[in-house]
Order: sequence, then structure tokens, then C-alpha cells
Amino acid sequence: MYNDASFLKAMKKKTLRAGIVGSGFAANFHFDALNRVHGTVVEIAGVYSPTEEKRNAFARKRELHSCETMEELIDGSDVIHVCSPPVTHEAVAISALERDKWVIVEKPFTGYFGDGSDSFNGDIFPRQEALDGAIESIRRILAAEKKSRGKILYAENWVYAPSIQKEREILEKTGGQILWMHGEESHSGSHSAAYGKWRLSGGGSLMGKGCHPLTGALYLKQVEGNARDGRPIRPVSVSTRTHAITRTPGFRDDGHIRANYTDIEDFAMIHVVFEDGTLAAIFASELVLGGVHNWLEVNANNHRAICNINPNTAMQTYNPVESQFQDIYVAEKIGTKQGWAPTSPDEDWFTGYQHEMEAFYRNVAYETPVQSDSRLAADSIAAIYAGYLSAEKCGAEVRIPSISQ
Ligand SMILES: NC(=O)c1ccc[n+]([C@@H]2O[C@H](COP(=O)([O-])OP(=O)(O)OC[C@H]3O[C@@H](n4cnc5c(N)ncnc54)[C@H](O)[C@@H]3O)[C@@H](O)[C@H]2O)c1
Repeated sequence: MYNDASFLKAMKKKTLRAGIVGSGFAANFHFDALNRVHGTVVEIAGVYSPTEEKRNAFARKRELHSCETMEELIDGSDVIHVCSPPVTHEAVAISALERDKWVIVEKPFTGYFGDGSDSFNGDIFPRQEALDGAIESIRRILAAEKKSRGKILYAENWVYAPSIQKEREILEKTGGQILWMHGEESHSGSHSAAYGKWRLSGGGSLMGKGCHPLTGALYLKQVEGNARDGRPIRPVSVSTRTHAITRTPGFRDDGHIRANYTDIEDFAMIHVVFEDGTLAAIFASELVLGGVHNWLEVNANNHRAICNINPNTAMQTYNPVESQFQDIYVAEKIGTKQGWAPTSPDEDWFTGYQHEMEAFYRNVAYETPVQSDSRLAADSIAAIYAGYLSAEKCGAEVRIPSISQ
């Protein structure tokens, strides 16, 4: 994808200024990925997050400028990284687009977060309201993008994960038709304090985790359609079930799984039907021990591919004494480092973090086509909220509203 010789020869490295919104987990891996961008020169203009102490600590550790306001950060940057909770994505993205900046929006793109009150309860509101609200939010962001000289770069790292990009190559070169896919993102619970409250995260496992394999699947059907017929194959309907297992009276908490969610689901399965009648079945949960479980299997009419993002067998370690690996990173949310482990020699590489950043900065600098764009982001959110409506109807099929762009 990146080593086209004539492209590289013709390319004169441009310098771009990056501004990071947020100083938590995602801000950290964006910072690390920015340090691995080679196609352009990246200068980090600064970081903004509302809590001064945390923002300053993040900035000090990385020798960055700590901005007192978001406006200061946006004005001093060419590209804004939205690494703040989902409830903030729309406002931050629109502010940056209005100032003609490019915006890297972390997943999930946007959503429905209730009436803005602290007492909003995600368990009891009508899901049609959420679907309508999420579609309106998408439309507002797309309208801002249309008017802007900047564009949206949707930070769905699964699109750029090397295994998914290899599958893109296979589809493009063989003209294969994907008949069905299944995939999953699960682990034992998010670290983020904002996650678990609908008013901040806009949903539970389907929104926070399911969006990854779902968007990977939507992307591959786009690739298939573009390669064969010059137009993407879009999703048309979903059937979904969601459950809150850790909040059922019968759940027995043994301390290994996070269990303090207030009003979100911790298990979801979504069945997606595409316009050509083919399928994707996606699972997402907070109920899986042993590290992050991220995979997507593609069953095509001419090949089969299993994309193991985490864990994979690139490396395995056996450690007889837990304390020996005290200072050694093994794999995300692994739980224990003792015994056999799927130790990742470079986890960010397998997850696609550095590849998405490389691609985005080339998109901005050299105006190349965006793989994970606002259309893919919009399809993903529309499918998720159609999914929540379906879950309210105990899995009945719901059509995904179309969003004209
Ligand atoms: N692609 C991935 O693999 C991945 C992994 C984790 C998180 N994420 C996404 O990244 C985003 C941030 O999640 P996180 O895990 O870093 O959360 P976090 O809680 O670790 O950090 C969130 C940061 O946003 C800041 N913030 C809160 N309100 C803000 C506002 N109004 N304006 C600006 N900043 C504000 C907080 O101060 C904090 O620094 C979420 O959308 C999440 O879904 C993506």
C-alpha cells in the first residue's frame, strides 16, 4: 500500500502540525503512532484536555505544549486528533472542520448520548430516539465536512491492520465475492472511566467494541464492490441481541471481569445483511478473559481468510515465574504473564495504529484517497443504532437508514 516507487519518488515530504485532543489512553497511542510516521514530517503542536493537571502531566512526559483551550490547539494545528470520549466527538470535529482543519476522529464516530443530563438512564429510553439522534449527529458532521477545506479521517484502526489490508489485496486481485463473515472484539472490560455510562459512551459493547469488526466487515464489502463493479456494497439491515450479564442478579463476580457498568450492555451480537444478500455476524463483549480477542474471518466464493489481530501466533512465550516478566509488555489485558502467552512483539503494528497514522498523514499531505472515510464511519454508526433498535425488538430485522452524502 505504501511502497509504490513512483509515488515515493514524486513525493516531497511536507510538514504538518498535529494537535491532540484528550490526554488518556487513545491520546497516548496516537502520540506513539505519530512518532512512526515517515511519509511526512509531523510536528506536534500540542495537547488539550479539560483537566489541567492531567493535560500538563501528559505534555510534560512527551515534551509537548499544553494548550489552555481547544481553540488555541485547533488554530495552531493542521490536523486535529479527536481522542476524547465519544460524547465529545461531534463538537470537536465540527470546531476543527469549521476552521478548515483535517480531523482524525477516533472510533466510534458519533452517537446518541441522551438529553445531556447526568441522570440520563441508557436502560430505559426508546431506541428509535437514539437511532434518529445518531443519524442527525452524523448529518451535522457530514455537513460541516462538506463546507470545510479539511476532511474527516475516521480512525478505525481495523481498516489499516495489516491482515485486513492483505485481505483487501486478495479481494482486489481475485475479484472474489464475500459470502459471509464473522468476527469479534471482546475483552474483560474497558479501562476508561467514561465507558459504561451511556451518556458518555453512547452505548456498550456493540458501540465500544463491536464497531471495530463491524467497520472492518463494512470496509471489505466496500472494497469488493469497488474492485468488481466500481461502487461499494452497502449494508441494508441488521438483527441484534444485547445483554447486560454483569448486571443480572445471578452474575457471580470473581473479580476478573470489570462489572461496574451503570446502563450499558456487556454482550452484543449483530447480524448484518448487505445489499447483495451476503452477511456478516459480529460479536462484542466485556466478558472474555485472556487478553483482547480481535478477529475477522472472511468466507468468499474463491478463498477463505482468518485475520487474527489479537491474539496471534507471531510469537509465543512460556514464563514459569510471573515476576520475571514484571517489566515486560506481553499483550493487552492479558491478565497474567505466567505460563504460555501470545506475546506480541509489536502490538501496535498488528492492530494497525501506525499504519492508519501513516495513511492519514499521506492523505492530508498528498491528497490521496481516504480508505477509512466519513462514509464508512457513517455506515458503521447507522448500523450500530439500527442494531440497538433491533435489540429493543428482541432481534427483529431493522433497516439501516440511508444517509445521503
Ligand atoms: N482505536 C482503539 O483501539 C481505541 C482504544 C481505546 C479508546 N479508543 C477511543 O478513543 C477515545 C478516547 O478513549 P480513551 O480510552 O482514550 O479514554 P480516556 O478516558 O483514557 O481519555 C479521554 C480523554 O479525553 C479528555 N476529555 C474529556 N472530555 C473532553 C472534552 N470535552 N474535550 C476534550 N477532551 C476531553 C479526558 O480528559 C481524557 O484525557 C474514545 O472515543 C474511545 O472509543 C479507541
